[in-house]
Amino acid sequence: MVLITGCAGFIGFHVALKFLSQGKLVFGIDNLNKYYDQDLKKKRLKILKKKKNFKFKKIDISKPLKLNQEFEAILHFAAQPGVRYTIENPFSYLSSNIVGTFNILEFAKKNRIKNLIIASSSSVYGLNKIKNGFKENQLVDKPMQIYSVSKITNELMSFSYTYLNNMKIVALRFFSVYGPWGRPDMAVYKFCEAISKKKKIELYNNGNNFRDYTYISDVVDGVIKTFKYIKKTKKNFTILNLGNSKTYSTKRLLFEIEKNLNKKAKVRFTPNLREDILKTKSNLSKVRKLINYNPKVSLTVGIKKFTDWYIEYVQKK
Ligand SMILES: NC(=O)c1ccc[n+]([C@@H]2O[C@H](COP(=O)([O-])OP(=O)(O)OC[C@H]3O[C@@H](n4cnc5c(N)ncnc54)[C@H](O)[C@@H]3O)[C@@H](O)[C@H]2O)c1
Repeated sequence: MVLITGCAGFIGFHVALKFLSQGKLVFGIDNLNKYYDQDLKKKRLKILKKKKNFKFKKIDISKPLKLNQEFEAILHFAAQPGVRYTIENPFSYLSSNIVGTFNILEFAKKNRIKNLIIASSSSVYGLNKIKNGFKENQLVDKPMQIYSVSKITNELMSFSYTYLNNMKIVALRFFSVYGPWGRPDMAVYKFCEAISKKKKIELYNNGNNFRDYTYISDVVDGVIKTFKYIKKTKKNFTILNLGNSKTYSTKRLLFEIEKNLNKKAKVRFTPNLREDILKTKSNLSKVRKLINYNPKVSLTVGIKKFTDWYIEYVQKK
């Protein structure tokens, strides 16, 4: 049985579905908080609960974990995500991400769980320069906000837990993941919703921020390959980028969404937010070599899949 934290969240939900479809027993936990539409989280959970090999418990990981189960691995996705919310509620990043991950690591140590996959983020690269894409071996000491600080801290805590204990951890640095059942606080969803509801979109930095958008099925594939890797590797601690390696402006993203919805957006061009990174782009040499990760879904194809899902989802609401 595997423990998946944040199973009602976007990535945790898709990973849980994949494991369940492969016949694995999945124990999911989540606190179902109200950071974004709780209904979306409940709907994801409802889909998971239909599978007979799925168990769920509502748990807040900012408190020490008490679970009487044996787990072969933990996939840790629960966190307070988002960059803009760091200004509004910085404490939630300390409690859910730093204390939360500490509680997961302590739980793993006490229960002798050897294999952990932990969600990190492209945000850790902060003000680093991009040469040939961000590389895992770059020093990450220029975080732009507390979200980034919390993810760097999670990686550092993971390193020391693997150093002191018989434990293997892979930290996966995700790059702007999008797709069906995606997060309403992220650009792909927000743009789609604003166009559909004829609301204004604020394009920060005049639409010239660049992101390495990664489609969810590529991320799930990367997680599954990491799961196979961690069981056979002798290395205690590994960091891997899970991106797409191409980078597109938010203007281009908006164009793709407009094309699919066949509607023009109402746009207000605004200066950049200080907490927002200007450009992300992953270098995938290490992850390709180590786990044979090979993202396949282009932005055009991925956005089409997202808008198709969005239209159907909103109609059913
Ligand atoms: N989606 C992306 O583009 C992206 C990019 C980089 C990193 N990440 C990381 O990947 C992970 C998953 O992200 P996501 O996009 O699925 O986010 P999400 O918000 O959809 O999922 C996170 C889930 O964790 C739960 N959670 C939060 N705090 C909790 C707590 N204290 N106790 C228990 N559950 C709690 C939430 O209710 C939510 O369901 C996060 O760690 C995030 O930081 C995501």
